[in-house]
Amino acid sequence: MDLSYYEASAAYLRTIVSHPPEIAIVLGSALGPFSKALEDPISVDYRDIPNFLTSTVASHAGKLIFGTVAGKRVVCMSGRFHYYEGYDFEQLAIPVRVLRLLGVRALIVTNAAGGVNLDYRPGDLMIIKDHIKLMGASPMRGKNDERIGPRFFDVSTMYSPALRALALQESEDCGLKVHEGVYFYMPGPQFETPAEIRAIRILGGDAVGMSTVTEALTAAHCGLPVLGISVITNMAAGVLPQPVTDEEVVEAGNKIADAFGHYVVRLISKM
Ligand code: HPA
Repeated sequence: MDLSYYEASAAYLRTIVSHPPEIAIVLGSALGPFSKALEDPISVDYRDIPNFLTSTVASHAGKLIFGTVAGKRVVCMSGRFHYYEGYDFEQLAIPVRVLRLLGVRALIVTNAAGGVNLDYRPGDLMIIKDHIKLMGASPMRGKNDERIGPRFFDVSTMYSPALRALALQESEDCGLKVHEGVYFYMPGPQFETPAEIRAIRILGGDAVGMSTVTEALTAAHCGLPVLGISVITNMAAGVLPQPVTDEEVVEAGNKIADAFGHYVVRLISKM
């Protein structure tokens, strides 16, 4: 898909929102309550946006919410899209490309993730310093439109060192334990096997999840700095003698939603 495809979505959104957003934030599973922090919100259903995608997961609302946080113009993706829903990686590039066209200068991606690092506990946060995606697919596979970004591009600092430093600095007295670590992407929708989790730990993963990397890669391709934050909602498979359940993921997300929300507001105020 070339630039004009994404431009159609952006043009529609410009008819609704007169001031372009500066910062975009993608809200992960059960982190939706953050959108309540937006002042003067304007909501747009994904299904009303030409060439956009629609969300299929119950805990993901499926709308863009424009508003102000700490004096900054923000757009929230309340509800995101995943490979396991049936989208291919190229489709998963759509939202971030549209947000970039609207003019955002930074992207915050949040997610729920399983704790692989044995020092992590449910309710902790992990600032993403890097990721591992062993799956062959890439959102940039296929014809490249140079107006969006280059064919080959560096990703060694795609998780912005400056934003990571800010996130760590602001983590003091936020009421949450904040780590920095490596996010390991798994396609899902099944949670991992205990053997996969042991392998992920050996390979250098600290947390495991089913989202984020497509959005982060899309941002890196078009030169958009990324801050990734995982909420550790559960210990990954096999760490504890109990199954991993979606209920615990949602419950852990809800439990820290307030503290997490305050933390993100503080970060946005300094971005
Ligand atoms: N694995 C993959 N994705 C997840 C997990 C997990 O344990 N927890 C929340 N999202």
